Amino acid sequence: MAKVCITDAVPEAGLDELRAVGHEIRSWTGEQPPTRAELLAQVSGADAVLSVLTDGVDREFLDAAGPQLKVVANIAAGFNNIDLELCKQRGIVATTTPGVLFDSTADTAFGLLLMVTRRFGEAERLVRAGTPWRYRTTFMLGHAIQGMQIGLIGAGQIGTAMARRCKAFGMRIAYASEHPMKEPARSELEAVGLPIDELVATSDVISLHCPLTPQTHHILDAQRLAAMKPGSYIINTARGACIDEKALVEALKSGHLAGAGLDVYEHEPAIEPGLLGMENVVLLPHLGSATVETRITMTALAAANVLAVLDGKPAVTPAPG
Ligand code: DGY
Repeated sequence: MAKVCITDAVPEAGLDELRAVGHEIRSWTGEQPPTRAELLAQVSGADAVLSVLTDGVDREFLDAAGPQLKVVANIAAGFNNIDLELCKQRGIVATTTPGVLFDSTADTAFGLLLMVTRRFGEAERLVRAGTPWRYRTTFMLGHAIQGMQIGLIGAGQIGTAMARRCKAFGMRIAYASEHPMKEPARSELEAVGLPIDELVATSDVISLHCPLTPQTHHILDAQRLAAMKPGSYIINTARGACIDEKALVEALKSGHLAGAGLDVYEHEPAIEPGLLGMENVVLLPHLGSATVETRITMTALAAANVLAVLDGKPAVTPAPG
């Protein structure tokens, strides 16, 4: 029987099939996530690891695990926490969980979009603070999203799911992506592919749905933020480092951007202090796919990847590349 290490708390219901096989499973039971030292000690001797996106799966991690390690199954669609090249060199299969979290993540992105454009975050804080208010026809007006252009950076499953929500609310759909949006979604949604600079310059809301890679690191840098339409909005449920966060603070402070809805941060869980005091910014603690149902399915898919590789079969959902 193989040794399987689960690096942090995961929904137990996602582990049924893995547990049924009878492998030796070492689960993290601490109240808090493991420290780096605890993580390295925990993975030592494992044949398979179920990792989470906060685990840096780098040389140190792989060395600590040992040469018997066969598979690292990330419970996430993202893979920026894993040194894929090194895994490949060492013959370790790395897997992710695409295809099961696009609706939850798009729900989060669309929720942020409404919160920011309609000022729901700001309004909720006002009520909770006990600030006196009365209905007035001019009170706390946001902007109607109907007719606005959403500019999606990334048009994979999550970007497409976001596009469907935006279309249903009367937005026009544009995107910039390495690959065209898949049919029939592209035609149904009348989605227009644009070069990224044109997308940025013409969209009323930019929403990020790309993986974090060297190519997408700071894909919204100071220059692109300055090129965005005055009064436009940014939504980020992808990865924080896709945006230059300091430059974002400046673009919001100057009033060039009307607001931002953020679920992810460049130096997560730390947040640029400038963002914390801004009323036109909605901040969530990386809840993208955080539903009971989705997290169980993600865990079960990661477990299925582990079982496949330990059985000598191809992984169900290998990491790209
Ligand atoms: C992922 O799977 O990469 C998401 O960020 C989780 O919410």
